[in-house]
Amino acid sequence: MTSAPALPRRCTFASHDWSVLARCWHPVAIASEITPDRPHAAQLLDQDLVLYRSDAGVTVAADLCVHRGAPLSMGTMCDGHVTCAYHGYRYDGTGRCRLIPAHPGGPIPSKLTLRVFKSVERYGLIWVQLDASEERPLPEFPEFGAPGFQVFHVPPLDWAASAGRQVESFCDVAHFAFVHPVTFAAKDPVVPRYDVAPTPAGVHAEFVSQVGNISDPSAASQVWRRVYDLHLPFTAHLTVHFPHGGRFAILNASCAVSARKTRVFAVIAREFDHDQPIAEAIAFQQRVYGEDQRIVERQNPEDLPIDLDEEVHVRADRTSVEYRRQLAKLGLGREFTA
Ligand code: FES
Ligand SMILES: [Fe+2]
Repeated sequence: MTSAPALPRRCTFASHDWSVLARCWHPVAIASEITPDRPHAAQLLDQDLVLYRSDAGVTVAADLCVHRGAPLSMGTMCDGHVTCAYHGYRYDGTGRCRLIPAHPGGPIPSKLTLRVFKSVERYGLIWVQLDASEERPLPEFPEFGAPGFQVFHVPPLDWAASAGRQVESFCDVAHFAFVHPVTFAAKDPVVPRYDVAPTPAGVHAEFVSQVGNISDPSAASQVWRRVYDLHLPFTAHLTVHFPHGGRFAILNASCAVSARKTRVFAVIAREFDHDQPIAEAIAFQQRVYGEDQRIVERQNPEDLPIDLDEEVHVRADRTSVEYRRQLAKLGLGREFTA
């Protein structure tokens, strides 16, 4: 099924780091966007992908027809087969060619088989492992499908930034008062002491604070608890425990499109506000993410420095320090992008 992974053309990652990242799971699309009507293009770690849905489910393959190299995402779907726009060859859900229109009924060379990657549908997303030589667990999202939670997806967000910088910003607790003063932050920028620990998947952090302007004034306590679970390399799960007892969870699952481009998939599960229109909740998340994007797209260097000597860290940065340590342990180099 999966051939030895070759570095993509025009790869923007250092080759060793690309190999490390290729062994991990990454999200590449919202599952409901992959319909039987048309193939879908995506990109992960500079690898062009085509996704298509047949009776066998969703297939993820290199976006390249092995006949003459046309992108299959330019093609169409015919009878559950992805059909090339150039000479009309048709490929089934396993990637095997089933029809050469120029020679119907004739032999089909076995080499006419697409490079198919290991994929799975989970949390309404399609996840891909470009190098499936090792079994790896997917991130956990316990609120997804749990009783009492309403779930929805924010449309994919495209950032001109590295995935490491994006994920680190998602877990940064010291920027709220400066980047999100209107949307949700308290005015007080002080970061109380908080706990951070490594886990088998990445990093666990628990942060308790007052968060001002959307706290419920009728609640007995104005204390918010934010629990972060980072799953290497680029997924972070956050549960916010609101003062009134309700929980709000986000899976921030980032697709490293290239070393400089990131597509963020945000899946939301909320235990309250079920009568609030989902479009309103999505607009709020887009606004908050936009506030982060403005900063992160301008960070320099664009890569997340893995070497802790390269930037300055204070106590408030404990989560990002541990995140960088864990990325180094995963095998990424001092600079994990080119
Ligand atoms: S290039 Fe795809 S059918 Fe010829
Ligand atoms: Fe933020």
